[in-house]
Amino acid sequence: MPSPARRFSTDRFLFGGDYNPEQWPEEVWHEDVALMRRAGVNAATVGVFSWAALEPAEGVYEFGWLDRVVEVLHAGGVGVVLATPTASPPPWFTRAHPDAMPVGPDGVRLSHGSRDTYAVSAPAYRDACREIVQRLAERYGSHPALLAWHVHNEYGTLDWGEHAAAAFRRWLQRRYGTLTELNRAWYTSFWSQRYGDWEDVLPPRATQYLANPAQVLDFKRFSSDEMLQALREQRDVIRATGSAAPVTTNFMLPTWNHLEQWSWSAELDLVSVDHYLDTVGPDGETHAAYGADLTRSFGQGDPWLLMEQSSTSSTVPGRRAHKSPDRVIRNSLSYLARGSQGALFFQWRAPAAGSEAWHGGIVPHTGAGSRSFRGFEQLGAVLTAIAEAAEPPAEGPLVEADVAVLWHAEGWWATDAPQLPSDLLDYSSTVRAAHRALWQAGYAVDFAAPGADLSRYRLVLVPSMFALDGQAVRRLEEHLAAGGHLAVWPFTGYADEDLHVVPGGYPGRLRHLLGLHVEELHPLAAGDEVLLEGDGTGPLRGRVWSELVVPDGAEVLAAYAGGDLDGEAALTRHRVGAGVAHYVSTFLDEEPLRRWLTAVCAQSGARPVLGAPAPEGVEVVRRRGARADHLFVLNHSGVPVRVTGPGTDLLTSSAADAGLRVEPRGWAVLRTTERDGWSAEALEA
Ligand code: GAL
Repeated sequence: MPSPARRFSTDRFLFGGDYNPEQWPEEVWHEDVALMRRAGVNAATVGVFSWAALEPAEGVYEFGWLDRVVEVLHAGGVGVVLATPTASPPPWFTRAHPDAMPVGPDGVRLSHGSRDTYAVSAPAYRDACREIVQRLAERYGSHPALLAWHVHNEYGTLDWGEHAAAAFRRWLQRRYGTLTELNRAWYTSFWSQRYGDWEDVLPPRATQYLANPAQVLDFKRFSSDEMLQALREQRDVIRATGSAAPVTTNFMLPTWNHLEQWSWSAELDLVSVDHYLDTVGPDGETHAAYGADLTRSFGQGDPWLLMEQSSTSSTVPGRRAHKSPDRVIRNSLSYLARGSQGALFFQWRAPAAGSEAWHGGIVPHTGAGSRSFRGFEQLGAVLTAIAEAAEPPAEGPLVEADVAVLWHAEGWWATDAPQLPSDLLDYSSTVRAAHRALWQAGYAVDFAAPGADLSRYRLVLVPSMFALDGQAVRRLEEHLAAGGHLAVWPFTGYADEDLHVVPGGYPGRLRHLLGLHVEELHPLAAGDEVLLEGDGTGPLRGRVWSELVVPDGAEVLAAYAGGDLDGEAALTRHRVGAGVAHYVSTFLDEEPLRRWLTAVCAQSGARPVLGAPAPEGVEVVRRRGARADHLFVLNHSGVPVRVTGPGTDLLTSSAADAGLRVEPRGWAVLRTTERDGWSAEALEA
């Protein structure tokens, strides 16, 4: 049975973004739609923060303006992604329901004045959400312009107040059944924390010293589940009205991680994400790929939607660099190649005032006579030219990958705890580093949930997953038994799902697979490094971590050179049935990590997209399609590249059999039915 996400298929890629007409007089709407048509925009996300405009006083609704907006867009051929406005309850709501405002861990209750200010467990908030959503769904649910429902916006406001405490207790009762079991899981014999009454159990509020890590992790699990329940309620209200449009909510990657995305994705018709580059340099391109591969994987390989990316610049610290038009196009093509059904932006028109006045828009403050707007017109033309690539294949994933990286929010949450053996352990950077190395080496990559079926992959990487449950371990065993390869990084598999350390030598969950045990942990200070020698590829430099590894059958490929661990095993390989488990006991620097992983990939039989690594700075992705595949070639480098193979560029109609030149910072999208026979080489500038 096709998954619900597969329902989302469009005959061309969506292009557009957040549209806030309530900030502008009506004559501007007409100018907006004229400009949208000029640029080829075909999708507008409307209503994201419109609650106060739709319901200015409790029970008083004003839909007239939205009716007109939807009609103006529809008449202009622009589809509507209609948001439910529940991320921002209006000021009257606070006065009527002060208890529905969130409380921080320090007991301070927030008030309105910004956005995202709500206590998700408060009954008044949930009732009000259902009410406004019901009215929107009844009014617009079968409008021909409606492309999708965008529920809420970036769920993620946590609450430590009384409503949360009551809901947390109910959640814990469902998870553990009895206080005895909760006391066991939370290890409450430590520091006199044993609970004798459910009423004593609280969210992890501000306390004198370190909080109980199991309680903190459970609170994060609970908060994700609680927000998911709020999403389900809205989805069910929408579906009950008979609206057939797919339902999504936008995840926020990668800096903000309050949701357990696998369980959320299973509830959505369409997975969508807001993705902002975390860096201005070329590493931004590896970052776009990371966000895209994660989101596609959350949706089990089906089409997904890039709901927001920054149009030109953002007001958020760290994301302020201006994106050039060519970068906007290359980034958009990277998301599309990796499965997005559209390139949507924050936002259509830069606001005149407010806290995001300095956030760029497709129409900047300077207006449509600008270089950046011309860039968006060019993007629109590119998307029209490659429209055929939007149609997904009848079955199978959009992108075929031989390599999977295990990813789970709980891995991140567990590694956020203070008082781990090193303060430098960083889940997201470690996973990102593994993905970046594979990007550089030219491999397609999926992410997989611990415990998911891994049979389609030749190689599975576990860069960081401190706690692993029994099912996750069984899947890794099956993977190796079937001849797969596994690569594991330090501080992985040390604990069970309750964060209880498995005794007998680290990593207790994986010792039998890796053929070793770790006797001592030797975390490194910031700036310190270790050298590994012996694998034949030259010295490998690592940071953050080292450890005393005792092989129990594993073959030692490289040993520590110098320092306390001089001569001790550092990099190993262990045959398990038909498979091979690789282990690295430090966090390798970028270049040695790429070297090690390229060797591991080759041993596992995984194939790079082109059959061989692409030139430096060149990204090649194959998106499978209905009648043919499409090879997206993105040249992020400063030198021209020649790509050769059995295909035709949709943008220039040139055949690539005898070689197609892709300019520096340029792109090509090649229709092909052949997987083999492709190569790319850098040319002299
Ligand atoms: C997103 C959010 C938008 C806007 C944007 C600014 O995370 O959904 O509403 O605030 O950030 O970059």
